[in-house]
Amino acid sequence: MANPETSETVAWSRSHLLGIADLEPAEIELLLDTAESFEEVARRPIKKVPTLRGRTVLNLFFEASTRTRSSFELAEKRLSADSLNFSGSGSALSKGETLIDTARNLEAMSPDLVVVRHQHPGVPHLLAERIDAGIINAGDGAHEHPTQALLDAYTIRSHKKTLKGLTVAIVGDIEHSRVVRSNIHLLTKMGSTVRVAGPRTLVPVHMDAMPVEVHHEVESAVEDADVVMMLRVQLERHKRALFPSVREYFRLFGLTEERLSRAKDDVIVMHPGPMNRGVEIDSAVADGPYSVILEQVANGVAVRMAILYLLMAMRGGEA
Ligand code: CP
Repeated sequence: MANPETSETVAWSRSHLLGIADLEPAEIELLLDTAESFEEVARRPIKKVPTLRGRTVLNLFFEASTRTRSSFELAEKRLSADSLNFSGSGSALSKGETLIDTARNLEAMSPDLVVVRHQHPGVPHLLAERIDAGIINAGDGAHEHPTQALLDAYTIRSHKKTLKGLTVAIVGDIEHSRVVRSNIHLLTKMGSTVRVAGPRTLVPVHMDAMPVEVHHEVESAVEDADVVMMLRVQLERHKRALFPSVREYFRLFGLTEERLSRAKDDVIVMHPGPMNRGVEIDSAVADGPYSVILEQVANGVAVRMAILYLLMAMRGGEA
């Protein structure tokens, strides 16, 4: 496939998608271009192509998920793959089986690809070392969520035509977010300026070492921004109280129409979900004219089809 910016042929050569940190800009561009070619499948009367017929994809979700899990399942169905769904609760893990033993037993069923979400960082990398199937990271602890960053980039590119030269403000619980880490890697590789903002207790000190501007006021973060991405406050990961109250958080960091008016006139508002209305975002903004939050969800299917397709093609499984 040709990269339009360099006219060089770009080939996908990875067996796994473990994170964005290792990807080259040309690989990201290839993934986004491939997703574009799958987008029209959703507009067909019969939303299915035979690309992965006879291939098996195992969806291993050890943490709750609505969007990522259903998006992968739909992407697999649209590519005609056979899906096997497995969640941590209700499995033999709750009877003391180790993760590796569980994975080996599931591998005995010969899946071609494994999609994994786990509360501990590095689990997808461990599986990639131990089993033969291609591994896709669907979120590992607070480390990375590469498919979310790719669908975010796809959504931004579809509105702004390019990622280069944009200012993207990411506001919220930076400390506990895997989405922000994958987005920082991706957006800065592709030439965007990234601002992160949140209370000091929710922005890790090591953020200074990343190629981002750190803000502690939402107003300065969104000033003239092209994109405002709001993040959920992940109360379930907080080991102690990190701000006085939800009401106080919304007062200081919640995205309201008034705050959003500081951004560019053609700003888009994003959120990876799940969204807490009245905590990090006002309903008037979430449902307002600048919101592309549901587009993100729709785009996730085409992006995940592209990932499944490229990984399987690399494994010699292209239909
Ligand atoms: N964006 C995201 O990962 O949502 P889910 O937790 O519902 O998968």
